[in-house]
Formats: sequence, structure tokens, C-alpha cells
Amino acid sequence: MAELIDGKRISSEIKDELKQKVAELKAQGVTGALAVIQVGNDPASSVYVRNKKRACEYIGIESLSYELPEETTEDELIALIEKLNADDKVNGILVQLPVPAHINEDKIIGAISPAKDVDGFHPMNVGALTIGREGFVSCTPAGIIQLLKRSGIEIAGKNCVVVGRSNIVGKPMALLMLRENATVTITHSKTKDLREVCKTADILIVAIGKKEFIDASYVKEGATVIDVGIHRDENNKLSGDVKFDEVEPHCHAITPVPGGVGPMTIAMLMSNCVEAMERSR
Ligand code: GUN
Repeated sequence: MAELIDGKRISSEIKDELKQKVAELKAQGVTGALAVIQVGNDPASSVYVRNKKRACEYIGIESLSYELPEETTEDELIALIEKLNADDKVNGILVQLPVPAHINEDKIIGAISPAKDVDGFHPMNVGALTIGREGFVSCTPAGIIQLLKRSGIEIAGKNCVVVGRSNIVGKPMALLMLRENATVTITHSKTKDLREVCKTADILIVAIGKKEFIDASYVKEGATVIDVGIHRDENNKLSGDVKFDEVEPHCHAITPVPGGVGPMTIAMLMSNCVEAMERSR
């Protein structure tokens, strides 16, 4: 049987470590505040935002909530971001995505000060990751590195295949695995012989957003499989991009859905917030 990589346990562990660190920083007079901006009231976004604010409360940093109406203009949103950029009390700024269609997402991400961009989406932070400089790293891929390291899975020298090339997961994931000295392949919808490429992976990271797309025929015997997908069926049952029941018996280790990658995103957001606090010291 494969080892189950327990994201719930590992994310709790990380949040407890951060809580301790925040207490130490507070004792030195350093406080933290994360500004969380939501435009409109998409129900899924509201759940994420609530969970982010709860995590702030748990580790002991303040969250400042900005719930803006759907009709908010791009200029109004940028004006708020600029005000928060200039506010010394705020060390992290997060705009929950997606923003409504009349607002240009790239402009919004670009307006956040790179030093407060705890999502790691600003081109300066993405560039820093690309050339190996210090900066904020996108939370889901950073969480996957923690899952692997804290489960004792060696990365250096391993063949890693990343399925999906999004700016938030696939691309930064590939860069992080490269930083950890894996041999990295990025695949996407135009990749030829995807199955054969995936079968070369010692570590297969799947972020394609297609329910149960990866079956056992894509997986090398003894591989580690990380499933970033999350899909809800009509009975509210969650599943990932990987056919778990079929793939699991062939793996060395695998993340379940739910309880694998999911809980790590917020833990790493908190980690970035604490890093922002430390930098502001
Ligand atoms: N929407 C979906 N995932 C994320 C995320 O990690 N950060 C933000 N800001 N919005 C998101």
C-alpha cells in the first residue's frame, strides 16, 4: 500500500510552528496584518477568504477585510491597493481571484507592492523565483514542496513531470522542483504522448483541472503522485485529477483529495505573511 501524504496533518504542523514564530515576533514588538480584498460575492471565493481570515486569527496576525461590491471599478480597486501599499501597519495584501470580468487581473496583481505580495503572483516575485533570488513563492506549489520534504521524499536527481502550465501552479511548481535539483518536464494540452512522458516520472504532479484524468496507465510503479485537482460531484463528494483508487496501489506515496494539497495553500500563505513580518522588522 502506498504511503498517504497527509496534508491536513502537515498543514497543522506548519500553522503551529508559525503561531509560535508570530508570538516570538510579537514579543519583539513586530506585528502582522494581512489585508484581504474580495470584489463581488462569488460563493467559492467567500469560503476561501473566510478560511484565510480564520488562519490569520489562529496564528495570531490581524486580518483586515475589504469586501467590495461587484461594480467596483479597476481604478477604485487600484486606489485601495495603493493606500494599503503605503500603510506600514499592513505587511501582506491579497486580492482574491478571480476578479469580475471588467477588472484586468494582471493590472491588479501588478499594483500590489512586491514586498507585500504574499500570494507570490507579482511578476517581480515570479522573476525572482526564476533566477533563484529571494521573493514570495506561490502558495500551492510551495506547499507541495513542504509535503514532499516533510514526508521524507527525496527530490534531488529525481525525474519530475508537472502536468499543467498555469501561472499559479504548473509554472512555479516546475521552477521550485528545479530549485530542488529535480530533472523537470512540464507537460500541457499539446504534449505528444502524455501517457509515456508521465510514465517517466519518479514524482508526478498533476494540476490540469480534469476530474480523474490520470489513471494507472500514466503512472510508473513506485512513483510519488501529487494531485492538485479538486472537483465536487452532484453528491458533494470531492475527487481530484487522479483516479485515486486505481493509481494508489502502484505508488510509493500519494496525496488524497480532500486532505492532500488543499490544506497546504493557506498554510503557505500564512508562512509568506510571517516572512513579510520578519522582513519588515
Ligand atoms: N483564487 C484561487 N486561488 C487563489 C490564491 O491562491 N490566491 C488568490 N488571491 N486568489 C485565488
